Amino acid sequence: CSGNAASTAGGGGGSKQIKVGFAQEGAESGWRTANTKSLQEALGSKNGIKLTFSDAQQKQENQIAAIRSFITQGVDAIVFAPVVETGWTDVLKQAKQAHIPVILEDRDVDKADQQYITSRVGDDFEKEGETSCKWIADNFNGKGANLVVLEGTAGSSAANDRTTGCAKALQGTDIKTLDQQDGNFTRAQGKTVMEGFLQKYGNKINILYAQNDDMGLGALDAIKAAGLTPGKDIQIVTTDGTHDGLTALANGEFNYVVECNPLLGDDVAKVVKDVVAGKKVDKLYLAKDQAFDQAAAKAALPTRKY
Ligand code: AHR
Repeated sequence: CSGNAASTAGGGGGSKQIKVGFAQEGAESGWRTANTKSLQEALGSKNGIKLTFSDAQQKQENQIAAIRSFITQGVDAIVFAPVVETGWTDVLKQAKQAHIPVILEDRDVDKADQQYITSRVGDDFEKEGETSCKWIADNFNGKGANLVVLEGTAGSSAANDRTTGCAKALQGTDIKTLDQQDGNFTRAQGKTVMEGFLQKYGNKINILYAQNDDMGLGALDAIKAAGLTPGKDIQIVTTDGTHDGLTALANGEFNYVVECNPLLGDDVAKVVKDVVAGKKVDKLYLAKDQAFDQAAAKAALPTRKY
C-alpha cells in the first residue's frame, strides 16, 4: 500500500475497545474467502477491536440492513465492501448523521457518495484490467483474434473498472470482442456463461478474459467438455492470483494472471484505529499488485499465502 497506512497495525489499542461493524459483500470466490479472513484477523483483539461481522451474500439489500444495524448498535466505525457502486446515499447519510465514520475495503462507491466515505483501502481495478488486456494485445494484435469476456458482478466497481481498463488496452488493435457477459465472480456462473459462449461461437473463440480466477476455473470445465484444450485452443487471462488460479497457470491451463491483493486487513485496521483516534488519514490506500506468467506462477506457488 502507499501512504501512511502501509505499516502493520500495532497491538493493544488503549483501554477502550473499538467497536467495528464489517459488512462483507459475500463469499463468492477464493479471493473473497482470503479477504474475509484477513479482515477478521486484523479487526480483532490484537488491535483492541471488537468486531461484528455480516455476510450479505452478494445482495445489496442485505448489506444495507447490516449497516443500519451497525448504526443502531452505535459502533465506532463501519467497514464495508460495496457489492455494487450505486444506491448507498440514504444509508451513508444515516451513518454521517450518527457521526460514525465509514471506511471502504476492496470495492468503491460512485462519485456522488464519496463525500460520505472517510477512506478506502483497496486495489486498482482499472490498472488490473489494463494489464490483463495489454498482455492480450501484445500476444494477439495483428492476428485477427476473437475475445470473449466473463465480467464480474454487474454494477460492481471491480467489474466496471476492469472493463474500462481492458477497453483502453485493446483500443487500436484488431482484436474483436465477440461477447462479454456477467458471471457474478462465481465458478458456477463462469461455467454456465462460457457454455453459452461456446454454443454460440464454437471454435471461433481464441481468447477468454475472465475478470476473476473463479470464473476462469468454472470456464475450464466448459472448455474441456467442448473438446477443446484450455491454454492452447483458447488462451485464458484471469485476475486475482489465488492458489487455485496460479495452479491452473502453472499447469498451462491459464496463460496469464493479474494479481488483486485480498490481504487488506492490517491496512484497514490501521485506518480504523487512526480515524477513531482523531488522526488524519488519506482518502485512498492502494495495494500493490503484480502479474504472473506460467514460470512466475510456478516460482510463487510454494509460498503463496492465499
Ligand atoms: O472486488 C474484488 C473481486 O471480488 C475479486 O476479483 C473477486 O474474486 C471477488 O469476488
